[in-house]
Amino acid sequence: MGGYGGTFPGPTFELRRGEPVTVAVRNELPVPTSTHLHGGVTPPGSDGYPTDLVVPAGAPPHPAHPGEVHHPLVKEYRYPVGQRAATLWYHDHRMDFTAPQVWRGLAGMALVRDEEEDALPLPRGERELPLMICDRAFEEDGSFRYPRAHRSGHGEHGGRGRLDGDYMEGVEGDVILVNGAPWPVAEVTATRYRLRLLNASNARRYLLRLAPGGRFTQIGSDSGLLAAPVTHDAIPISPGERYDVVVDFSGYPVGTAVTLVNALADGPAGNVMGFVVTRRAPDDSAVPAVLSRPPGRPRPVATRRFDFRATDGAWTINGHRYRPGVPLARPRVGTAEVWRLTGDFRHPVHVHLAHFQVLARNGRPPAATDAGWKDTVDVGPYEVVDVLARFDGHRGTYMLHCHNLEHEDMAMMADFEVI
Ligand code: C2O
Ligand code: CU
Ligand code: CU
Repeated sequence: MGGYGGTFPGPTFELRRGEPVTVAVRNELPVPTSTHLHGGVTPPGSDGYPTDLVVPAGAPPHPAHPGEVHHPLVKEYRYPVGQRAATLWYHDHRMDFTAPQVWRGLAGMALVRDEEEDALPLPRGERELPLMICDRAFEEDGSFRYPRAHRSGHGEHGGRGRLDGDYMEGVEGDVILVNGAPWPVAEVTATRYRLRLLNASNARRYLLRLAPGGRFTQIGSDSGLLAAPVTHDAIPISPGERYDVVVDFSGYPVGTAVTLVNALADGPAGNVMGFVVTRRAPDDSAVPAVLSRPPGRPRPVATRRFDFRATDGAWTINGHRYRPGVPLARPRVGTAEVWRLTGDFRHPVHVHLAHFQVLARNGRPPAATDAGWKDTVDVGPYEVVDVLARFDGHRGTYMLHCHNLEHEDMAMMADFEVI
């Protein structure tokens, strides 16, 4: 396996708004990588474009795709960190190989903090838990088991590690990992805890609930704190999404085993992790009625449509397989647009750079769990999801794609260029 810093997940980065950082990624793996900070408002040269590769030392200088860039061994990624406090994550984004490389360990979390968040009395320290949730399958020797690819080796897409039709829907595992541990159990005091939930699975979607009962108070979405908390009995979380929630364990008697369950699966994948309430303890945390002042909704200047569906055995956007360097849209920096997202299957749609709000699902108001600024939204089969996307901060080429990573590798990706 590979991992950032040799661990899985990779190290959790603590970033502060207004404090730019440079991260030198040194690739000691035998395969090329491209590192993307998911949810980051990042200049294009550091966004982890799929053909902007850090290649192993001594790799042959033969680009496999037109326009491919090779950085031998190291690349410095520059992150301005000008954005609001939020739960971000980073992962590999190599062309055609994102799914196997993330599965084998190339993922980690990054937390952006700021003064607005510091001023809130939210649970912190040991009572703030970043939780990277993903499913995996294992070989007998304990290594990650990912299906073997067909190597086509011919024609235009020569050398692609493409999976066959059996995996068109994506790859799921039978073991649920949280921060790399299978079905872990955390000891908690009977107090409030802040859980930063991330679905880092390739293709599995979860409906999270607390058993024997309990509620989640959502305080943040993909792109930062909500204006005001929203309470949910269940949280649907698709690949790439984050939910920042507070759970109050003071409602359970000491000794209670509380389980975070996945109501979408029976059997092992129906259990995510446990909490054991060990004792009462003082708690000076609170969830204030006003959390933040997120940016308002700008007036859109254009409406575009992006249709995600299977076309001739590939996953496509507006009928096209991914064509690096050919933008499907050219929004203007500083503007906002309505993007209408549709599809034939379930596709968690992710947009780089531009954060968005969900305006409507099938012409009706969005779900309570769609609140806030986001970068990934679950588009169900034959659903029509309208989002208002803001193009802020940088010009250049970015991507939108399905965050089912097998769909992404099977060409469900497109460029857009902010001009
Ligand atoms: Cu988390 Cu382009 O992806
Ligand atoms: Cu991203
Ligand atoms: Cu998809």
